[in-house]
Amino acid sequence: MVEAEDLQSLKTIALLGGCRGPIWLSSQSLGNELGISPQTASRRLIALERQQLVIRSMKPDGQYVAVTREGEQVLKREYADYVRICNPERRRYTLAGTVISGLGEGRYYMSIPHYKEQFGGCLGFEPFPGTLNIRLDAASIQVRKQLDHAGWIDVPGFTADERTFGGARVLPCLIRGQKCAIVEPSRTHYPEDIIEVIAGSELRKALNLNDNDTIEVEITHD
Ligand code: CDP
Repeated sequence: MVEAEDLQSLKTIALLGGCRGPIWLSSQSLGNELGISPQTASRRLIALERQQLVIRSMKPDGQYVAVTREGEQVLKREYADYVRICNPERRRYTLAGTVISGLGEGRYYMSIPHYKEQFGGCLGFEPFPGTLNIRLDAASIQVRKQLDHAGWIDVPGFTADERTFGGARVLPCLIRGQKCAIVEPSRTHYPEDIIEVIAGSELRKALNLNDNDTIEVEITHD
């Protein structure tokens, strides 16, 4: 992880032409560009060189600095972040509905160790044993149909004790800032107005939810 101030110096050197080859650069001139003292600029150059983000060489007329390939990579990663931030394709969907109770099947499936591990592995939280069922309002049923191209993660099925357990797909989402995921079993036909959500905590307790409470599920994807 490159420190913010090093990144700023690296960008300035690149803007002065440092990605195309060595450029003449004194601590004074870099300091002027960045609005910092020559001493601080000199320390930043040393820090960049130590991280192998620039190469410095001394010539009779002064110091030359070039951005290394690694330095360029750092800038490109930064650029990719900005592209993602500004990309108009990045979409945000909201599904709204009411909390309902199911038949207790979620608890059964989400207690099976293999599923727990698989879901936990790809979502980054260990799911609470159960699924929160939400009945979508009419507009959200339409929104849900657009989610087919969102960032679903496939969880393959498996066999244990001579039984076959089907696969599923999960879609990371947020409910009131809590990391959750919508789970959809593969192959099973599911009512279009119901979604099942898993989370690292018991959402009814964490968010003080009861049956018939309205709730919003936010999905963001590129
Ligand atoms: O009985 P039902 O099918 O609705 O639920 P379940 O999947 O067996 O989950 C047990 C209980 O925990 C239900 O009341 C769910 O709504 C709730 N739950 C929760 O509060 N937070 C979760 N992350 C998952 C389930």
